[in-house]
Amino acid sequence: MIVVGGASGRLGRRTVSFLLERVDAARVVALSRTPEKIADLGVATRPADFNDPNGLVRAFDWAERLLLISTDVPGPGRIQQHTNAVRAAAEAGVGHVLYTSMVRAGEPDNPAVIAVDHRETERALAESGLTHTLLRESLYCEMTLFTAPGAVASGVLASNRGDGATGYVAREDVAAVAAALLADGGHEGELLDVTGPAAATDSEIAAILTEVTGRPVRYQPLTDDEAIAGMVERGMPEPVARSSASFGKAAREGWLDVVSDVVERIGGREPTSVAGFLAANRTALVAT
Ligand SMILES: NC(=O)c1ccc[n+]([C@@H]2O[C@H](COP(=O)([O-])OP(=O)(O)OC[C@H]3O[C@@H](n4cnc5c(N)ncnc54)[C@H](OP(=O)(O)O)[C@@H]3O)[C@@H](O)[C@H]2O)c1
Repeated sequence: MIVVGGASGRLGRRTVSFLLERVDAARVVALSRTPEKIADLGVATRPADFNDPNGLVRAFDWAERLLLISTDVPGPGRIQQHTNAVRAAAEAGVGHVLYTSMVRAGEPDNPAVIAVDHRETERALAESGLTHTLLRESLYCEMTLFTAPGAVASGVLASNRGDGATGYVAREDVAAVAAALLADGGHEGELLDVTGPAAATDSEIAAILTEVTGRPVRYQPLTDDEAIAGMVERGMPEPVARSSASFGKAAREGWLDVVSDVVERIGGREPTSVAGFLAANRTALVAT
């Protein structure tokens, strides 16, 4: 069986649909804490809660390959959830685990605060003896839509990213890579950076927004404190603002500029550029 965790989420759903283009639906099992949410996927479903180690062993039963998608609430609880999943996979005798990590997660100096969650999960996988492959994702192109519409409306894209570039990848492209690996196997023991075709700075994104919308947008650099204060002022809880600003710092310091050919080489598709992604989302950019 090919077992897909987090199948109710955006990445998991798309991975299952790509997978069904490659393998028989009878080989696929999708997981969620609430299986009713994924009844429409057209594959068998099982309940799986990363907080419930015993239930996870049952969820992973008969898995030749398993996609472990990182859960969505960063912090120490997430490390425990992922560690539970790794232990359960080992107990269930899973043949090959794919884990969605982040670029340069393995380096302790990485200032992105969530890097530690991925680093500890990667460590648990290494210590488990499980055959595994790390899909170290860049930031999703979709993340640019949190700030881009406001930047188009105000004419200013302000951030603490400075001149740092980010190799934004479309979630769809990550799903294509995950589905190819689940269907075809291979790449055991490899660490795969899953990124877009080029890294872009915020000045370049401002120029793309200008081009795509016809409205002038310029880049304005912020300090880390200014970025945090701005996000809090707009209603973001302070811990979330600090976490978000830590990504800005990581970009500014060059931790997110990784670019690879994995989407094309393994996913078998031309990777979406951030310019192409923003052009495809023009309606959302000019909605404000
Ligand atoms: N690279 C990036 O820029 C970026 C951005 C955002 C997020 N991410 C990471 O990428 C992951 C996938 O992204 P996405 O957009 O697909 O996220 P999403 O739509 O929010 O989906 C999150 C998934 O996590 C599952 N989940 C959460 N807690 C769980 C638990 N205790 N046990 C089992 N499953 C649990 C959810 O399943 P149920 O609720 O159905 O159980 C859901 O399917 C995220 O979870 C996050 O770790 C990366």
